Amino acid sequence: MSSLETIERIADGGEDVLQRVVDVLHDEVEHYSWVGIYLVEGDDLVLGPWRGPQATEHVRIPVGQGVCGAAAASGETEIVDDVNADPRYLACFPSTRSEIVVPISHEGRVVGEIDIDSDRPAAFGEDDRVLLERVALVVAPFCN
Ligand code: SME
Repeated sequence: MSSLETIERIADGGEDVLQRVVDVLHDEVEHYSWVGIYLVEGDDLVLGPWRGPQATEHVRIPVGQGVCGAAAASGETEIVDDVNADPRYLACFPSTRSEIVVPISHEGRVVGEIDIDSDRPAAFGEDDRVLLERVALVVAPFCN
């Protein structure tokens, strides 16, 4: 890649920054089994960068559906200790036991969200919420 192309890619930001953030979360936090960022497009959440053992079939989720759609609709973080006990849950991976979804807001509106599945039951607590809500602030400008 030429230096101009490299600089254009850095300035373009977006996908590349989000992918690197997803990779760090997945690789450095043991109980984060699958990490993805969904971006709001109209009334839908569209899957952007993700990292985990398997692709999900849920690449487009209407706002209001699933745990993801609930967090996007309310703008509030959702923590589900037992996904099998939550009627809103849209199943992706048979191994998933718990989930956290953290909205990403920019200039007063939800522009995306961080979605993390764990193979451990009740894996997510206040430490995760604090970490991921800060990450959401950092990545917000790149969710356009
Ligand atoms: N479980 C989510 C769907 C996305 S997958 O976890 C990647 C939900 O209930 O909205």
